[in-house]
Amino acid sequence: EVGTPVYVYSRATLERHFVVFRDALAAVGVVDPLIAYAVKANSNIAVLQTFAQAGCGFDIVSSGELARVLAAGGDPAKVVFSGVGKTRHEMAEALQAGVKCFNVESTAELEVLSEVAAGLKLTARISLRVNPDVDAGTHPYISTGLKGNKFGIAHELAVQTYLRAASLPGIEVVGIDCHIGSQITDTAPYLDALDRVLDLVEAIEAAGVRIHHLDLGGGLGITYTDETPPSAEVLIGLLLGKIDARGHGHREVMFEPGRSLVGNAGVLLTEVMFLKPGEHKNFCVVDAAMNDLMRPALYEAYMGIVNVQQRAEPTVVWDVVGPVCESGDWLGRDRSLSAQPGDVLAVLSAGAYGMTMASNYNTRGRAAEVMVDGSKTWVIRERETVQELFKQEHLLPSS
Ligand code: LLP
Repeated sequence: EVGTPVYVYSRATLERHFVVFRDALAAVGVVDPLIAYAVKANSNIAVLQTFAQAGCGFDIVSSGELARVLAAGGDPAKVVFSGVGKTRHEMAEALQAGVKCFNVESTAELEVLSEVAAGLKLTARISLRVNPDVDAGTHPYISTGLKGNKFGIAHELAVQTYLRAASLPGIEVVGIDCHIGSQITDTAPYLDALDRVLDLVEAIEAAGVRIHHLDLGGGLGITYTDETPPSAEVLIGLLLGKIDARGHGHREVMFEPGRSLVGNAGVLLTEVMFLKPGEHKNFCVVDAAMNDLMRPALYEAYMGIVNVQQRAEPTVVWDVVGPVCESGDWLGRDRSLSAQPGDVLAVLSAGAYGMTMASNYNTRGRAAEVMVDGSKTWVIRERETVQELFKQEHLLPSS
């Protein structure tokens, strides 16, 4: 009905993933926690609405994402605003909306935020995002907690930056924040980062600045192929155990999960167009491409691919590729599949960083999105038309 390529999400799975996270926190005595879903992972307003209705908060990185959260019925009091490059305009919008907290990433940003807030006679509640300098053991492009990354405030500068923050007009220090990377499949980097953060909290409070909440970021990995990430329950049990053991059990704890809430709640459906067997490689050309799903091209990420049709014919090893004019345009390499033109393939675990990273490269309209809700399906985003792609462009006047 909708055509391909199309992203399809399961409402029940989105809700279940949120409940698993919430229950894991409840199991260690954290009631009514702030789980701030990282909007960048999947920002369709129906996805945000599903989470908002479940009681979720949101981690945003732009006023565009704030607008989506508000359009979806999200509560601004449950929004944290992250990102290294917030504009004055974005700061003002978030202040006026009444977001819970700004996660500030540099002294320069702190000074500007103070000016903007004081100018509006409002108070910006802030955390500093500290860079704990731990290796999350993930792809370099999605690792964010190392010294060489652009993110956060260096560990050594944290205390003095907190003192500066506490002295600025329009600024109220409320917490500390840390996010070390994405698709983390091991608990060790999380626990190391937490130790570094708690060391800092102790030093900051000894210097006279109160820290109310600990925001431990997102980053929990999912299974794309054979990864074995810890469950939310195991990870949260270990983190909260350490927080208690080190005498910080009285603090509010929050998280910013993205991928772990949405990744395995979505697939990308794509139709097989042509088969191109060859001497060196067999190519299975499908109608989805790197513009629809960028993760394989950008990070050489593995995404599972299955044929929705059950075929009795023997499997062949294919590179599953799209129509875009780049050799990097592949969705899967060396995949054993039995496929015929007209078959629909499902690219698995595509609910996170799929549609949100889609582009119009090669003047391809972006895919449609559908939500499955029990026995019903809803189109939650129409397929983009070619006319829409250049309606904001202008021809030069004829001479
Ligand atoms: N909080 C902050 C400040 C972040 O930068 C991120 C993700 C998250 C939370 C959510 O992290 P998650 O739970 O989803 O790992 N496009 C890449 C992932 C980039 C992640 C960027 N930051 C990918 O497709 O793998």
